[in-house]
Amino acid sequence: MKTYNKFVDYYDEIIRWSWYDINSEVEFLDEMIVKFSPLLTREGQGVGDILEFACWTGSIARELEKKWYNVFWVDLSEEMIKKANNKQKFIIWDMTSINLKLEYDIILCNYNSVCHLNSWEDWQKFFKNSYKHLKKWWIFIFDILTVFEFENMTKDFRWFFNVKGDTICLEMFSHPQPLPCKEGSKYYKWLIKMFINSWENKYNLVEEEIKEISFPVDEIKKELEKTWFKIKHLEDFHFGEVTGESERIYFVVEK
Ligand SMILES: C[S@@+](CC[C@H](N)C(=O)[O-])C[C@H]1O[C@@H](n2cnc3c(N)ncnc32)[C@H](O)[C@@H]1O
Repeated sequence: MKTYNKFVDYYDEIIRWSWYDINSEVEFLDEMIVKFSPLLTREGQGVGDILEFACWTGSIARELEKKWYNVFWVDLSEEMIKKANNKQKFIIWDMTSINLKLEYDIILCNYNSVCHLNSWEDWQKFFKNSYKHLKKWWIFIFDILTVFEFENMTKDFRWFFNVKGDTICLEMFSHPQPLPCKEGSKYYKWLIKMFINSWENKYNLVEEEIKEISFPVDEIKKELEKTWFKIKHLEDFHFGEVTGESERIYFVVEK
């Protein structure tokens, strides 16, 4: 079963435009960048380049570029580049190991992409790699879905969407059997069923699976500090203050 190969046809419409309003997310990211980059002024003076890891087809990058940012995109998936409209800026590589030999002003990894790294070792490598690609005094922003949120979603989660005549069903399950990850942690699996309307309302079923994991916020903070990042800010994307019941948390850290 392949991952994100067919769902790429529906992702932007379902996730980026109907599930979450992309504009509010871009506004939020812009606000975080301006607030927590000490060398940046509101008019954009002093800003250079953003390196966006796990950029998907560049939907966030394109919106950020409408402001005054210059964004370079990295994603592992070759399917993405077929959908991306700015292929010059797109690098297909693993964000845990890429070495661009350059430092950027902002590193961004948006929308629980870090949870797609299925081992704690990969999270550690990714934090180190982000540190390596960041200029001193500048910031790295990423977000996670929390263990609380994954546990909630696996209780009873099944969503249906109609996109261009096709029906898409998203379900989530948890797996106690760990991947090579930290002791006691689980992984969570999205099962995506795409009922594709082929001809005269005859449907073909295509399935894809996406595995994600998450870790307690305190462990992530400890690891970031071990990697020499200074923690500037944590924010619950929906409610502001981070609590034990936060679903999605943004981390803003400085080199
Ligand atoms: C949920 S999507 C996030 C998309 C985008 N950041 C957004 O805000 O909509 C997760 C992305 O992570 C990418 N990804 C997963 N593992 C990766 C890795 N090791 N290196 C680079 N990208 C990776 C996937 O290909 C996918 O595009």
